[in-house]
Amino acid sequence: MALDELINYLADRPLDIDDRRYLVNRQSDLESLNKIAKYQPYGIFGIAGETGIGKTTVLNFISPQDIFIRKINITLRDSVDSILYELTYNLARSLEGEKKLEKDAQSVKEWITNEVSTVRGFSLGLSMIGSVGTNFQTSNIPKFNFFAAREKLADLISRTVQVKGKFILLIDELDKEKKDDVLRTIDAIKSQILFDNFIVFISLPYSIYREYAADRMRWNESGNLENIFKDIVFLEPLSKSDIKELLIRRLSKYIGLISEEVLEIASDFADGNPRDALWIMYKTVFDNTDASRLEREHILKTIRGIVTEYKSIPLTENQRRAVDLFRGLAGTRDKFIEQLQKSGIKRTTAYSLFNQLIEKKILIQRNETYQLSGKYKYASI
Ligand SMILES: Nc1ncnc2c1ncn2[C@@H]1O[C@H](COP(=O)(O)OP(=O)(O)O)[C@@H](O)[C@H]1O
Ligand SMILES: [Mg+2]
Repeated sequence: MALDELINYLADRPLDIDDRRYLVNRQSDLESLNKIAKYQPYGIFGIAGETGIGKTTVLNFISPQDIFIRKINITLRDSVDSILYELTYNLARSLEGEKKLEKDAQSVKEWITNEVSTVRGFSLGLSMIGSVGTNFQTSNIPKFNFFAAREKLADLISRTVQVKGKFILLIDELDKEKKDDVLRTIDAIKSQILFDNFIVFISLPYSIYREYAADRMRWNESGNLENIFKDIVFLEPLSKSDIKELLIRRLSKYIGLISEEVLEIASDFADGNPRDALWIMYKTVFDNTDASRLEREHILKTIRGIVTEYKSIPLTENQRRAVDLFRGLAGTRDKFIEQLQKSGIKRTTAYSLFNQLIEKKILIQRNETYQLSGKYKYASI
């Protein structure tokens, strides 16, 4: 057996029902989500968490029995209009194969295709002619017809509910869009999509949840998160032992080729994020395909290489000192402040150093305790 075979098993891909054997933890999150799907009569729900934490994976496991469910992705980026257009288009596409919905889906799809080509074609024409203002009245320039699109979306949904009964729509990848655009789009369509028997789950960027939780559910003057989402399920980082379990399940065939310490260090490095765990293991394997077995030194070298390569976090002398003092420490903020004070740093400086390292994500919080991020545990910066 050669080490490079491991790379196949470390692919960073969202899991789905067929990969159930690889899924660790998340039972209670999935229970909540499936309960929402089953018992809530209607509404928009969020699934939030940092990238790589498992939002897409969790969405793939929402599967309440006998309920019609569709999943769509949104990937366009340029504007709120295009988010709505893409949403409607992709929903229509996903319904095309459904007997009694085929015709409606087809006609919505065509309408959108037409609209988009008119608007795009027109603006392309304009840009070829050159100046806009002098030759055309701006009111004559075709624009995305937001209101009509919103109506099409609503019609399609209510038709689906009519035909299929309860309908669950999963919208993924919005977590990658700009936060405000996401909220603006949802806010703009929410009143149109609140039907009985229609449930939407949307994956959300971490930043939205942070506001939801910390800022008393405020978003800005015009919108309010609480008015948009009936609830947001936050995916916590996994525990270190879950991460280790994840790696062991993925690599079970090869476990004899990997020293226990390697898994330990990779799990530290991940800080509870499955994507980071897969990535560091992949890097380590990739750097060491010639080795006969993965040992502690291999992964440490890879980590040091990464930390040097991405010297993206310039630190002051004091910050560096604090990082050194924090190695191996875990606990309340006071404990960290005390550690700094013991080494002669003034109290006010200690607080600001602590905050700076939080800001830089070098110090992280896990279940009420602070600790040095696993990214820095084994490498000096
Ligand atoms: N609970 C889990 N158990 C095992 N692997 C997971 C779990 N959650 C996520 N992963 C893995 O982590 C990676 C990131 O997951 P993904 O669902 O794509 O995250 P997100 O959508 O939040 O960015 C994927 O490779 C996936 O297979
Ligand atoms: Mg995702």
